Amino acid sequence: MRAERFDERTAQNVATASTSVPPPVARDEIVCQSATATPRPYSRLEGHGPPTSHARQQRALRQGCEHRRVAEFVVRPARAGDARAMAELMATVAEERDGIASEPPVDIEERAAFFARSADGSVIAAAHGQIVGLLHVHVSRFGFGELAMLVDRDWRGRGVGSALVQAAIDYARGQGLHKLCLEVFAHNAAAIALYRKFDFAEEGRRRQQYRRASGELWDSIVMGLAL
Ligand SMILES: CC(C)(COP(=O)(O)OP(=O)(O)OC[C@H]1O[C@@H](n2cnc3c(N)ncnc32)[C@H](O)[C@@H]1OP(=O)(O)O)[C@@H](O)C(=O)NCCC(=O)NCCS
Repeated sequence: MRAERFDERTAQNVATASTSVPPPVARDEIVCQSATATPRPYSRLEGHGPPTSHARQQRALRQGCEHRRVAEFVVRPARAGDARAMAELMATVAEERDGIASEPPVDIEERAAFFARSADGSVIAAAHGQIVGLLHVHVSRFGFGELAMLVDRDWRGRGVGSALVQAAIDYARGQGLHKLCLEVFAHNAAAIALYRKFDFAEEGRRRQQYRRASGELWDSIVMGLAL
């Protein structure tokens, strides 16, 4: 099966699932908004006694202005011109030696060449002109897609990963794939929670599968989503 591009329809589906879409945006982009702070609980704002409806409105306004900073990011298909920034982001995440299999040193030129070649199967998230997340689907000729992804550390926990996974699911369905699958380190609670959120099921554990630069052998979990 041939990998087709992440397309405009894919991105728009993410917009529906994620958030509001303020114009104008490029045809193949969607804008996602993410609250970066949680509103304070009622009791700490209102003091004692049940809040009146006017008080409730005022409180909501105050929270909206003071306690909910909104960050925007764009999800769109990757382009060959993104390849170097994608490789650099990957190298930065590899420095963490925790979530992804690659460890330093990452060969930026080699990775950039890979991302340029495989841009058709990738989607990125960008904020303020910087790439803050990426996801790649490797399409197998046997009808399944293998997913790999990462998000800039400063942007985690704000919905970027969710927007990318939703785009991957829409893309895979559009390609007629019957399944998406992936492998994740067994200790990677954030990634496993993200995949579970989208109904990926755990299909097995590969014990001591990955030898790390430290010499440790790490387990991985295989997860899959029937489409
Ligand atoms: C895993 C990763 C991609 C998640 O991206 P993200 O942008 O933080 O994900 P989201 O903000 O959309 O969060 C998605 C869900 O994951 C869960 N989650 C997020 N961060 C979590 C954390 N630190 N611990 C537990 N669960 C977490 C939540 O259930 C969340 O859904 P909710 O906000 O609706 O409750 C990101 O942490 C990352 O890039 N990590 C390093 C690289 C990596 O591990 N890649 C995956 C390799 S398999």
